[in-house]
Amino acid sequence: FQPKLLAGHRVLVTAGPTFEALDPIRGITNHSSGKMGFSIARAAREAGAEVTLIAGPVHQTTPRGVRRIDVMSALEMRDAAEREARSASVFVATAAVADWRPASHSEQKIKKDGSGQPPVLHFVENPDILATIAQSARGRSGELFCVGFAAESENLAEHAKAKRARKGIPLLVGNIGPLTFGQDDNSLLLVDADGVRELPRAPKLQLARELIAEIAVRLPATKPT
Ligand code: C5P
Repeated sequence: FQPKLLAGHRVLVTAGPTFEALDPIRGITNHSSGKMGFSIARAAREAGAEVTLIAGPVHQTTPRGVRRIDVMSALEMRDAAEREARSASVFVATAAVADWRPASHSEQKIKKDGSGQPPVLHFVENPDILATIAQSARGRSGELFCVGFAAESENLAEHAKAKRARKGIPLLVGNIGPLTFGQDDNSLLLVDADGVRELPRAPKLQLARELIAEIAVRLPATKPT
């Protein structure tokens, strides 16, 4: 009998973009499809974990056996993730969280005022969900293994190493370019304390399974109850 790799673990995954509303009709978002995060949730479930998936606005089917929480904004994602992370042993942050949100949200549609001058939009920075959760987990009993993702348009390895250090996490996964939003194939760069390793180009579900195996070998030997 071969026990499943993540049996006894509770895995939390964030996926997709966030949507930051400007008014009831408009907002800013990004091209994240959620495919990688949904594949990771599926692979974690196949590996025997209890999986909670916090999803921004995406068009993806919920993997079988996965508990899904839908959110829109970064602040909603942060609230849900902080709540769910308390009982998790693994946190994989694949969401493409908007770095900024409009400083104010208009209850009514913002209208052209006839002056020919476009409105000036002000933004405030969103909280870094992964860094915040990784930091608060360090002060709690019971371990939380945190994994981050990075999508960069240049110097991936350098940015990924810096990001891993800045966020205080053991494993950072870089999306090797070209940017693969919505596509089925990807290749990944794993950055940990030992250095850098590549998972060659493959369908996202296969990469997700390989990544789950990489996470499993890095978890503490004693399983949570
Ligand atoms: O700093 P950057 O956005 O490039 O970091 C990407 C990683 O951090 C991803 O794992 C992403 O899910 C996470 N992140 C987050 N909250 C943010 C920004 C990024 O959890 N506000």
